[in-house]
Amino acid sequence: GFEWLWWALCGVGQIRKSIASPGRGILAIDESNATCGKRLASIGLDNTEVNRQAYRQLLLTTPGLGEYISGAILFEETLYQSTTDGKKFVDCLRDENIVPGIKVDKDNGLVPIVEPEILLDGDHPIERTLEVAERVWAEVFYYLAENNVMFEGILLKPSMVTPGAEHKEKASPDTIAKYTLTMLKRRVPPAVPGIMFLSGGQSEMEATLNLNAMNQSPNPWHVSFSYARALQNSVLKTWQGSPENVEAAQKALLARAKANSLAQLGSYSA
Ligand code: 13P
Repeated sequence: GFEWLWWALCGVGQIRKSIASPGRGILAIDESNATCGKRLASIGLDNTEVNRQAYRQLLLTTPGLGEYISGAILFEETLYQSTTDGKKFVDCLRDENIVPGIKVDKDNGLVPIVEPEILLDGDHPIERTLEVAERVWAEVFYYLAENNVMFEGILLKPSMVTPGAEHKEKASPDTIAKYTLTMLKRRVPPAVPGIMFLSGGQSEMEATLNLNAMNQSPNPWHVSFSYARALQNSVLKTWQGSPENVEAAQKALLARAKANSLAQLGSYSA
């Protein structure tokens, strides 16, 4: 797939200072209502607007989130939702110095996140993923250049170069970092300010360890995260839809956000 995400209220010059700032990454909660329904079903909740609102309120009102999270990508419904006390979700984010973003296909003057996702499904080895990723990113940058896109003004959201999810052997974080950085160095100009990886079905721990491995030596870009599942899995499991679990679930979110913040700085240890 090929997807554009646009950020509200963030000029190009602000990217390195705000979204791509050290020790911070993106919380992706742009699940469509159908996908959000799948997440809720995993803890036995119905896919109602009330439940979606409650879950998003839990995530977006987590105190202290802005220390680790620089941006949050919202689904359109969420942009207009408020907390049960009537505070707009967007204002909750701004109070934490988190740039709100939205997945849309129009608007101008905003920051696009370029995301051609290569799915991890399959039993292929890591070399094959590298080969495919190199082809995909060559095409993407060709068309970005053809269309006069200013590279300084975009963020990139790639999947990591890993073996297929059903491949017989798992790769170590060092191997994944080596292959992924090889792909980036061959294909992505240093003018691009930030690389914000998606988690693509990796476990929370894998996503953190792989990001940490990539930040063991300096990179030309801010190498960080834009995770949905790898920031939300244990939040959902902890919440279970009960108001009395909200605080614990927010703690779970902060724990994952902090781990990935440290991984962005290359200083996470399990
Ligand atoms: P995952 O981190 O769950 O792969 O989702 C990322 C994403 O594409 C959301 O915008």
